Amino acid sequence: MELLKQRILRDGQVKEGGVLKVDSFLNHQMDVTLLNEIGREFRRRFDGAAITKIVTIEASGIGIAAIAAQHFGSVPVIFAKKTRSRNLDGALYTAKVHSFTKDITYDVQLSKKFLGPQDTVLILDDFLARGQALLGLIDIVRQAGAQCAGCGIVIEKQQQGGGALVRAAGVRLESLAVIASLENGTVTFAQ
Ligand code: G4P
Ligand code: NA
Ligand code: NA
Repeated sequence: MELLKQRILRDGQVKEGGVLKVDSFLNHQMDVTLLNEIGREFRRRFDGAAITKIVTIEASGIGIAAIAAQHFGSVPVIFAKKTRSRNLDGALYTAKVHSFTKDITYDVQLSKKFLGPQDTVLILDDFLARGQALLGLIDIVRQAGAQCAGCGIVIEKQQQGGGALVRAAGVRLESLAVIASLENGTVTFAQ
């Protein structure tokens, strides 16, 4: 998505440890005009998929998913919750996710009453790095017996391997900007 790539080149900042800071337009301050174009592009890529629910994860996925949903006939958005609690009750789908950067394992949780076998789900998120959170969401969609139409990602960092894991799980992946490298403080997009 050319508009997004141009914005990343203009306003993104490359930080230590392969981190791309996009907090001026995506995951702290949000440019809703850009988010609306992102939503339109997700719809274009998943046109015809008959999506009934959009699933994301708190916190940064929520704004993206809520705006995108309006391009899918205003289907409901469900955001999975992250908690370190082990205090689970029976009415939740849960998946364990390990964060390499924070070195913690947390539970991703989603209430069973909002997702079931009748649903066709589009999973959306802001970043795809190592892919552990996304794999947790895919697992939850499978636990629900729902159909997974695929995953839409705003920025994929290809070198961190998450995209390969998602595709290996047999899930369609559409990333609007794919970054091949952040070396020397420079953003290089994949071809
Ligand atoms: P990791 O901790 O194993 O690396 O896992 P993961 O790939 O899930 O990334 C951890 C968090 O960092 C995620 O947000 C993810 O969106 C974010 N992230 C990963 N790479 C980048 C990056 O290059 N730039 C920015 N800005 N964020 C990145 P989170 O902490 O799970 O949630 P939230 O911010 O949505 O609340
Ligand atoms: Na995120
Ligand atoms: Na984030």
